[in-house]
Amino acid sequence: MTREIGYAVSGLGVGRSHVASAVKAKGCKFVAICDRNEELLHKLGDEFGIAPENRYTSYEELLRRPDIEAVSVCTPSGMHRDHTVMALRAGKHVLTEKPLEIRLDRIDEMLRVAEEEKKFLGCVFQNRLAPANRKMKETIDCGRLGKLITGNFHLKWYRDEAYYGKNGGWRATWAMNGGGVVMNQTIHTVDLMQWLMGPVKSVFAKTGTYTHPIEVEDTAVAVITFENGAIGTLIGTTCAYPGLEVSIQIHGAKGSMYGKNNKLELFKMADDEGFAEEASVLEQFGAGGSAPAAADPSALPKVGHAGQVQDMIEAVIENRPPMIQGIEGRASVEIVQAIYESARTGKEVFLPFVPPAEG
Ligand SMILES: NC(=O)c1ccc[n+]([C@@H]2O[C@H](COP(=O)([O-])OP(=O)(O)OC[C@H]3O[C@@H](n4cnc5c(N)ncnc54)[C@H](O)[C@@H]3O)[C@@H](O)[C@H]2O)c1
Repeated sequence: MTREIGYAVSGLGVGRSHVASAVKAKGCKFVAICDRNEELLHKLGDEFGIAPENRYTSYEELLRRPDIEAVSVCTPSGMHRDHTVMALRAGKHVLTEKPLEIRLDRIDEMLRVAEEEKKFLGCVFQNRLAPANRKMKETIDCGRLGKLITGNFHLKWYRDEAYYGKNGGWRATWAMNGGGVVMNQTIHTVDLMQWLMGPVKSVFAKTGTYTHPIEVEDTAVAVITFENGAIGTLIGTTCAYPGLEVSIQIHGAKGSMYGKNNKLELFKMADDEGFAEEASVLEQFGAGGSAPAAADPSALPKVGHAGQVQDMIEAVIENRPPMIQGIEGRASVEIVQAIYESARTGKEVFLPFVPPAEG
């Protein structure tokens, strides 16, 4: 690494993973943290050995530090535009948690400001780094699966009532979460869906609130049509007791692949006689499987939040965009907003979807 940078994390819920990653990252000189919850700030600061002068309850104050070059924005989703734009305007590069924001017009503003300030904006979608998901992507992109026919992307999780009440209850609101299970949890699956299957042409969706006393949906089902002609389903729920899997099932004209919780569980290619290749693929990418380059540790991919934080630091040092750029965080939010529009109107909604501008 040619030099080291100061890295900051604001919002210390999932931000904890960013801090844990940054303190170990190569190229990171020091980590500064910010949360308006002072007790949490110091608890985390003590846990990770963050110097007292690098702990902030004021985001504005943290951003005034010239020796901080990049910031992870990990505050509630409906604050992402404001916190990202503030950091960009203060001359920082930014890695913003998913969803990049809860409204497309705000995302467009964030992208515009990043360009104006000539700073990098990255979006967290750590599941794209999982070796099994990368293997699925590579298999589709090289044409091995043939023409794509259908893909089923299902997230069946469980969240109790207390979950929706935590930290002021922001996750139960349109204003701060921009929706319910689709915008918050299923957005990971929506991102993988459009990354693997290709751009979405239209959505037809129904949503409902079944077991939680919240204003947003806890369950959604959508039929998706892709630009390449394939059709698929998306299901997201936080009512699936006791919390089950995220599953991805993709069928092409030349084969099928099933993924479950970021591991492969089926890999059947029509030209794989006796399924010898499947056995080897599942040994590497299946449950309990080794990472793909186990024999060559230097070739191991970066994984999870640690991988994205390390990549962001390297991006700043090497003056190149991060691996998942802001613009890529836009696509999933557009699909989610189209799903809400379809559920609201009872009609199929076609992309590009342009929601009414914020009043
Ligand atoms: N990538 C993932 O797997 C993943 C997982 C969980 C959450 N997230 C995303 O991360 C974001 C945060 O979610 P969470 O579950 O950590 O929420 P959280 O409520 O647990 O944490 C948010 C933190 O931000 C702090 N905060 C709020 N306003 C602030 C301000 N103005 N200045 C400083 N601190 C402030 C709160 O005190 C709180 O500690 C959301 O956008 C969520 O979608 C991503």
